Amino acid sequence: MLPISSCLASFALVTLATCAPLSGEQSLGPIPGQTPIYNDYRGIVAPFPGNISGATLPTARATELFNASSFTAAGYPNNTYDRIVEIRDNEAGHLNIFYREISNTSIKPGRCEYEYGFESQGVDFFLAEQTFVELSSISFLSGLVIQAVEDTSRAALLVVAAVETRHTAWALTNVWNTNPFAGPADTAYPWPNQILGLTVQFIQNGSCPKENPAYPYPSDQKAGLSFNGTFSTAHPGDKIQFEFPHGEPCFEEDKEYYAVFIHELNNVTQAFDTKTGVSEVSAAFDSNKGLIYAVIADKSGAPDLDSMLAGPLTLLQQPALLTTVIGGT
Ligand SMILES: *[C@@H]1O[C@H](CO)[C@@H](O)[C@H](O)[C@H]1NC(C)=O
Ligand SMILES: *[C@@H]1O[C@H](CO)[C@@H](O)[C@H](O)[C@H]1NC(C)=O
Ligand SMILES: *[C@@H]1O[C@H](CO)[C@@H](O)[C@H](O)[C@H]1NC(C)=O
Ligand SMILES: *[C@@H]1O[C@H](CO)[C@@H](O)[C@H](O)[C@H]1NC(C)=O
Ligand SMILES: *[C@@H]1O[C@H](CO)[C@@H](O)[C@H](O)[C@H]1NC(C)=O
Ligand SMILES: *[C@@H]1O[C@H](CO)[C@@H](O)[C@H](O)[C@H]1NC(C)=O
Ligand SMILES: *[C@@H]1O[C@H](CO)[C@@H](O)[C@H](O)[C@H]1NC(C)=O
Repeated sequence: MLPISSCLASFALVTLATCAPLSGEQSLGPIPGQTPIYNDYRGIVAPFPGNISGATLPTARATELFNASSFTAAGYPNNTYDRIVEIRDNEAGHLNIFYREISNTSIKPGRCEYEYGFESQGVDFFLAEQTFVELSSISFLSGLVIQAVEDTSRAALLVVAAVETRHTAWALTNVWNTNPFAGPADTAYPWPNQILGLTVQFIQNGSCPKENPAYPYPSDQKAGLSFNGTFSTAHPGDKIQFEFPHGEPCFEEDKEYYAVFIHELNNVTQAFDTKTGVSEVSAAFDSNKGLIYAVIADKSGAPDLDSMLAGPLTLLQQPALLTTVIGGT
């Protein structure tokens, strides 16, 4: 079984697809791995769950909004739309897998209304956002492994994360024409619901079924952290100035605070100036690999949730081009 928060979706899927919460007994539609629908289906209507779905995945929205020529006209390979539709099918299969993993005594939440931003911005923005979400989902899913109760659920999370990695590798190679590798490990982050919390911005206010539990649950949210935006292009060795758009933590005079940078399976603690918000991204990390998370903490290494005061801020390293497209600073 997975904790309730995870039913609220694998990050790459971002959101769940039914119009109303499901009870445990309702049909979840075709079983992933036993039907070609999660691999071969190329229709416009998203394939989960069965016929009670709504087009809520970013890839499902993109399937509706764009067509093959939208991508070729923008200079992307002529199979891009087809791949996106297949990714949509995979993500629908993930939703189905997670729905099945949620205990029948828990609410399987229903669909809200979403706005992803690319609706008005076009295919470049969509592809950049999709790559960013796939990368983040790997940290999210590996973090959920810590919360999962059943070993079989852990295995499910692992194989789903592996598929997100395939999607990322495809995007890096074929869409962005860059090196697909991220070093020996992707970045692990210990508080996955905080990463899920970054998707709240996509949900239209008040659009969720009233039966849905709070999202994410538990929220684990800390003060939002930003660097002139929701994510940063800062690289190892760069100075970085943090901003606190949702309110600054209560910094006490005479107390030390730190910026902790997390990359792959390591973290490095750096001095943090509470007056100016300035720190420096550790120069020790590999450059241009995967992503780095930054948090502000009152203990070196941010060893627990209590010591973690603000964040996470995502420092997107790969591909560098991505942030130019989505507009990070
Ligand atoms: C929806 O229902 C129709 C008719 O029952 C069926 O042919 C189709 O395969 C179903 N679609 C999905 C995605 O299950
Ligand atoms: C693809 O979408 C564009 C823009 O919406 C539209 O002009 C074009 O006719 C579509 N092409 C096909 C083959 O549907
Ligand atoms: C798609 O692109 C490939 C490689 O550039 C090319 O070989 C192929 O003919 C193209 N297919 C179509 C249908 O345009
Ligand atoms: C939930 O109920 C369905 C239908 O009774 C059953 O097939 C499924 O195995 C149950 N799932 C869990 C996780 O208990
Ligand atoms: C969304 O709803 C919450 C409470 O329901 C409210 O505080 C907030 O201002 C709303 N945000 C927007 C953008 O309407
Ligand atoms: C953040 O943005 C402000 C206003 O655009 C700019 O003046 C400042 O230099 C930026 N901070 C950094 C560290 O780039
Ligand atoms: C940082 O590394 C230390 C030492 O391995 C570990 O105790 C701590 O939990 C790590 N912090 C985070 C946020 O992962």
